[in-house]
Amino acid sequence: MLRRLKSAKSKGSCKEHNGINNTNSRFIAHTTVNFYSSPDVKGGCLYGGHMGRTPPSKFRGVQVYTYKELEVATDRFSEANIIGNGGCGVVYRGVLSDGTVAAIKMLRREGKQGERAFRIKVDLLSRLHCPYLVELLGYCADQRHRLLIFEFMPNGTLQHHLHPSNNQQKQLDWGTRLRIALDCARALEFLHEQSIPTPVIHRDFKCTNVLIDQNFRAKVSDFGLAKMCSDKITGQISTRVLGTTGYLAPEYASTGKLTTKSDVYSFGVVLLELLTGRVPVDTRRPLGEHVLVSWALPRLSNREKVVEMVDPSLQGQYSKKDLIQIAAIAAMCVQPEADYRPLMTDVVQSLIPLVKNICSINSSGSSRFLNQAGSPRC
Ligand SMILES: Nc1ncnc2c1ncn2[C@@H]1O[C@H](COP(=O)(O)OP(=O)(O)O)[C@@H](O)[C@H]1O
Ligand SMILES: [Mg+2]
Repeated sequence: MLRRLKSAKSKGSCKEHNGINNTNSRFIAHTTVNFYSSPDVKGGCLYGGHMGRTPPSKFRGVQVYTYKELEVATDRFSEANIIGNGGCGVVYRGVLSDGTVAAIKMLRREGKQGERAFRIKVDLLSRLHCPYLVELLGYCADQRHRLLIFEFMPNGTLQHHLHPSNNQQKQLDWGTRLRIALDCARALEFLHEQSIPTPVIHRDFKCTNVLIDQNFRAKVSDFGLAKMCSDKITGQISTRVLGTTGYLAPEYASTGKLTTKSDVYSFGVVLLELLTGRVPVDTRRPLGEHVLVSWALPRLSNREKVVEMVDPSLQGQYSKKDLIQIAAIAAMCVQPEADYRPLMTDVVQSLIPLVKNICSINSSGSSRFLNQAGSPRC
């Protein structure tokens, strides 16, 4: 099912968002951001905004904003512009001076350790450029304020569309779900295999960290917990367990042993959510069905049971052959033994023909397989 690829890829390239076969290189490696050695740093404050220059300056490849500029962009951080409140702090919608709409994350203050984490985060994000990752547009380290400015994703999170609150109708069709799965797989493949100089483990891959654009294409966000893989000898890093219940790989949850295979497990959980429409942990369900992975694993290899597992809102939209293949990919990703999980490259290669298939059905005009926008988006 999953073909192991002899990775002949050149490092640092990321496939274009709009084509399955497009291999245009988009990776740009910036030099390390050093917050204390620049002439722009004054009294612990990075100035890059209106210091007599318009538009705002760039600091080693990343746009630097003053707090004042972001106040203007968000109408003084008005409540009306709040779009979320996550683990790191409040997120605002803002319009930057050049008219770009952005998501502006105001980070909570966390002393010296927080300062170091902020620097590492900006350094990491400024080096990662891939159409499947939410792009860092800039940052602000003005006085005691610490903010990150990201490209704005107008359709919110995958969580919102897959598990809508208030009994809203689910809108994600089968083709759109497969496309989103492939976008996410490519994002993780990029982090694991094409990040320079070392692989990056996302560490908190989940539906709320998958953001959706105007065309219902997905980008992966939130590297707040991502860490550079530093131990090249063992190929793993041991660390305090961070992440989200229901998405944590068993070996990571029990021992803190973190590898790229932990992300593969989390990807498998999201794939199961796309397939079944269920959340990873749901204590309102009957006993034995609380934990999605435990419930799903024994069923994924049973052709009849797989059909029964599918999200009822997908009725009649998929071919049984595709369904069985998606179930097989999910089963491999969430298996307890980390070494037997596939690489994200393998997952990408397995998903590509399924998405291509959906696209060709769409373009041949079958209304049953019409995607979210009602037209092919491959
Ligand atoms: N780039 C973005 N574009 C649009 N909305 C965003 C963006 N980033 C975050 N959000 C919104 O803000 C919310 C909080 O995001 P975040 O700070 O990443 O917290 P968490 O991942 O802990 O939920 C998200 O659920 C989403 O609704
Ligand atoms: Mg997030």
